[in-house]
Amino acid sequence: MISDKMQAALNKQIELEGYASFYYLSMASWCDNEGLEGCAKFFHRQSAEENMHMLKIFHYLSEIGGIAIAPGIAQPPSNFESIQTVFKLVYAHEQKVTASINDLVRLAYEEKDYTTQNFLEWYIAEQREEEALIRMILDKIKLIGTGGMSLYYIDKEIEIINTAQIAAESAE
Ligand code: FEO
Repeated sequence: MISDKMQAALNKQIELEGYASFYYLSMASWCDNEGLEGCAKFFHRQSAEENMHMLKIFHYLSEIGGIAIAPGIAQPPSNFESIQTVFKLVYAHEQKVTASINDLVRLAYEEKDYTTQNFLEWYIAEQREEEALIRMILDKIKLIGTGGMSLYYIDKEIEIINTAQIAAESAE
């Protein structure tokens, strides 16, 4: 049986993953509006992935006899300064999610909830991969620079990365 404390913390994580999904959806819309089609595709896929992260916890709570709560999601920003800023914001958000997962693991350990601790292992690996992906994108953006045509090259690069992500996911 899951403790009230653990259940509340997992429901908080549902909200955080749900926010990430809408945050990235908002970024997809902004990219689309800026003519950055490759980036828009990337963020639509990321948004769907965050939705899956949210549902995974949702189903887990149901499976172990807990209560999953559909979250109220705060309105994410819809306007961004630049594509460089967008990816910096994504990195900051992913670091926040990682810190939150770490807190959940600590709590599961304190509560001697080894089932939840085991469940969270998937998220630890996922966060490591997501942070590495965004860091790699930030490095590419830095390499491309801000000269003429840079937006075009950034968009093409992100589209290539997105296609590779889809291929990797379907191979899993
Ligand atoms: Fe589900 Fe990217 O945090």
